Amino acid sequence: MLIRRTPDIRPSEITPEAVFLDRRRLIAGLLGAGAAAALPAGEAPALAALKYTRNAKLSVTEKPNTFEEITNYNNFYEFGTDKEDPARNAHTLRPKPWSVEIAGEAEVRGKFNLEDILKPHALEERIYRFRCVEAWSMVIPWVGFPLGDMVKRFKPTSKAKYVEFTTLLDPRQMPEQRSANFPWPYVEALRMDEAMHPLTLMAVGLYGRELPNQNGAPLRLMAPWKYGFKNAKSIVRIRFVEKQPRNTWNVLAPDEYGFYANVNPKVDHPRWSQASERHIGDGFFAKRRETLMFNGYADQVASLYQGMDLRRYF
Ligand code: MTE
Repeated sequence: MLIRRTPDIRPSEITPEAVFLDRRRLIAGLLGAGAAAALPAGEAPALAALKYTRNAKLSVTEKPNTFEEITNYNNFYEFGTDKEDPARNAHTLRPKPWSVEIAGEAEVRGKFNLEDILKPHALEERIYRFRCVEAWSMVIPWVGFPLGDMVKRFKPTSKAKYVEFTTLLDPRQMPEQRSANFPWPYVEALRMDEAMHPLTLMAVGLYGRELPNQNGAPLRLMAPWKYGFKNAKSIVRIRFVEKQPRNTWNVLAPDEYGFYANVNPKVDHPRWSQASERHIGDGFFAKRRETLMFNGYADQVASLYQGMDLRRYF
């Protein structure tokens, strides 16, 4: 059965989530077994199903948000500032064909087709907590592969201390880039040890299918212990650098957004508390959830920041 996505009726609306999920997994399996050729003629293929294995060890056991929630409540300023804007406007993004430039302090540099970048990597599903700096959260089943595996292939030199990620710059595809009030393109970066950490994912899909445009198709970053803004979407350039790059939100408001952006309930945003969060899907009047240090990933990542004053390096 083909699940067709239309702007009005989404599969998650008409199918109970568990069934919907199982069906997606089933379809992913079927397509993996070569059923893709059996799509009825004339049906526009929606988001292609991906072949992946589940990484239970690195997944949380909390219930994931629905596909509907994850794809209709977004931050992607290239398509507008309201949470519903990316879902409404991101159809102008063309994620195929796509290429990624590898630049800077690495032995292997150049422009590569996305297919060539992805080829050697086996895809995994990982259910991660997601915490936005605006104090809302979700749980998201990403599909991707460890960024560290990819970094190794490009052989960074000893000078490479940071990895910088740049989003596409193309005002025809990203209409808000016509406005000058944002320092386009969107740029983010990680310290090399953060980039190499096994939790750091290059995401290419969610709920078993390719990434919807509004979630950063075709390639985005996902470091789950950091505030959502670290996770650059629709990446076209990965650059290895010696000096700590300025990230977009730090350029825009240096007092409010630092380089590290580690989720930290003890360090408030200057304009609001970070101690708790509104979990999308809990309902507007539900009790807020307590925010966890490093978004609940402290056991895995706290050692990266040993000895650092996390108030200063926020
Ligand atoms: N990447 C780009 N290129 N542009 C953006 O506006 N927003 C960031 C991050 N990556 C953003 C971006 C912010 S603030 C958040 S919270 C997450 O994307 C949102 O990801 P999601 O919409 O998939 O939940």
